[in-house]
Amino acid sequence: MSFDLSGRSALVTGSTRGLGLALARALAEAGARVAVNGRSAEAAAEVAASIDGAVAAAFDVTDEAAVATAVGELGPVDVLVNNAGGGLRKPLLDVSLEEWRSALDANLTSAYLVARAVAPGMIERGSGKVVNICSVMSELARETIAPYTAAKGGLKMLTRAMCSEWARHGIQANAIAPGYFETDMTEALRTDAAFDAWLRARVPAGRWGQPDELGGAVVFLASSASDYVNGQILYVDGGLTAVV
Ligand SMILES: NC(=O)c1ccc[n+]([C@@H]2O[C@H](COP(=O)([O-])OP(=O)(O)OC[C@H]3O[C@@H](n4cnc5c(N)ncnc54)[C@H](OP(=O)(O)O)[C@@H]3O)[C@@H](O)[C@H]2O)c1
Repeated sequence: MSFDLSGRSALVTGSTRGLGLALARALAEAGARVAVNGRSAEAAAEVAASIDGAVAAAFDVTDEAAVATAVGELGPVDVLVNNAGGGLRKPLLDVSLEEWRSALDANLTSAYLVARAVAPGMIERGSGKVVNICSVMSELARETIAPYTAAKGGLKMLTRAMCSEWARHGIQANAIAPGYFETDMTEALRTDAAFDAWLRARVPAGRWGQPDELGGAVVFLASSASDYVNGQILYVDGGLTAVV
């Protein structure tokens, strides 16, 4: 059993800030050569320069051609973390079809596109790790985020589908489902006193998560320590999904 990632290459989508950045740092600390991704080339280069051995790989994960080109240029990827995503807040009946499609593209289709570009190389080499970043919204719903919830629920099932087709090729496809963490994405919620109080009362841990608290989970799922773990969703949520 080993948590060592020396000699492995890892692509973390959406890693110029927030959870992706924390995941990239954790993988690099465990020895991986990380590719930092986001839509801004400037931010990707800046973040890559701050992480030992990292390279920048700026592309839009929803752009099929851009994904194929970037992955081709990157060379073999041993660990793929599909993290890029996010969403709008609106009641379902106010969501336009364009907004619906955009949320599904960003949170679900993106993982299919990047994995589709990376997995053939993993299959050829007979090994690889895919870690999809789901959410407690893969399991539970909440008003005003229906497209995001639908997409993250889909990502949970895509993780299982990847396992069903790729496990026999030496690939482990798992997911991390974070609870509520302190990032730009949750800033509006954190500054909403009523929501903040509700969250602290609702989560058994009684607090928000810190992005670096996902590091252990991603290193585990990226390393040979998890070689017989497949198709699983690991909730890192302070206990939120364990209680009513
Ligand atoms: N924060 C939470 O509490 C929480 C909880 C559960 C799940 N999650 C999930 O965790 C992931 C990261 O969330 P976060 O809070 O860290 O978000 P964030 O702070 O908004 O960061 C999002 C990252 O993704 C990149 N990105 C967004 N769209 C992209 C695209 N189309 N192509 C490439 N990169 C893109 C952003 O860079 P650019 O804008 O420069 O492209 C940025 O690096 C998301 O999938 C989110 O749904 C977050």
